[in-house]
Amino acid sequence: MIDYQPLLQQLTELKADAWVDLIPQQLERAFDLKANGNAANWLALLEQIAVAKASVRELNSSQVKIGVATDLDEATLALLLEQLKAFHPWRKGPYDLFGIHIDTEWRSDWKWDRLEKHISPLKNRMVLDVGCGNGYHCWRMLGAGAKMVVGVDPMLLNVLQFQVIRKLYGEAPVYVIPIGLEHIPAETKAFDTVFSMGVLYHRRSPIDHLLELKDCLLPGGELVLETLVIEGKEGEMLMPEGRYAKMRNVWFLPSCETLIGWMKRCGFVNCRLVDVSTTSVEEQRTTDWMQFHSLKEFLDPDDLALTCEGLPAPKRAIIVANIN
Ligand SMILES: C[S@@+](CC[C@H](N)C(=O)[O-])C[C@H]1O[C@@H](n2cnc3c(N)ncnc32)[C@H](O)[C@@H]1O
Repeated sequence: MIDYQPLLQQLTELKADAWVDLIPQQLERAFDLKANGNAANWLALLEQIAVAKASVRELNSSQVKIGVATDLDEATLALLLEQLKAFHPWRKGPYDLFGIHIDTEWRSDWKWDRLEKHISPLKNRMVLDVGCGNGYHCWRMLGAGAKMVVGVDPMLLNVLQFQVIRKLYGEAPVYVIPIGLEHIPAETKAFDTVFSMGVLYHRRSPIDHLLELKDCLLPGGELVLETLVIEGKEGEMLMPEGRYAKMRNVWFLPSCETLIGWMKRCGFVNCRLVDVSTTSVEEQRTTDWMQFHSLKEFLDPDDLALTCEGLPAPKRAIIVANIN
């Protein structure tokens, strides 16, 4: 089991006592076997994964790499492959675990490559990754020199995939707490850099999301925000009437100008649009490790500039901003 003491101690030093008091309950509630039908199976599987000494731990290349095949005997390696498959679907990655290549739905490394050169160096920073999924970017943040990385994500499967990776990696100042951002107490103010990537459009109130992100930052801290946007002028946005690219839970897709306007209104300064990219079917696709439909099936087959609902196809912007 993960030892959360270093995290609690660090947050205490940063005077984030309200959250420190809550974290034990938040962990207990999320891993409640009665509340989540799959939890018991996944937890049992996690328990069964053998702890092996990894001869390689590489966090600065596209694949998060832990160990090589020869670190394990053949039977243990074959068992690990089956154990990892049981955590399907693997959406964020890629990973190379003892020579097993987890070809995830997303090339999450491409997003990292787009943003890395635009952000303040993470060396010795306390970092929060909101909506971290299985934690792929958390490992890249640690690789970039962060002092400690805390991810939050409310989906238990994501959190357990993270724990699988952490068990294989060994002790590290990286933690994922199974909660949504809205469960971090107001005024936590403990992080030098906060990332929110791929989350804002899932929120019914994007303004509250921005204010909650701001509340997590120390004075002078940096926000790295990545979200779906549309082409358009200031004030323009899209609120899909129904599904967007087959997703039910998509609320607001602002234009970049509108988004920057929201951020300024919430008190962010120095807002810089550093990247806008259309998501390609090479970046998000079905693989052996994520066998469900993916972006190709969510687009109009006759016009890849449109979703299957006839809306503008996914385009993502990265905005970096600060607070005073
Ligand atoms: C599209 S994924 C993005 C994952 C990763 N940040 C990335 O950019 O590749 C969105 C993630 O946000 C998580 N999420 C949804 N609502 C959230 C909330 N209220 N607070 C934090 N995370 C949330 C989901 O569980 C999911 O893992």
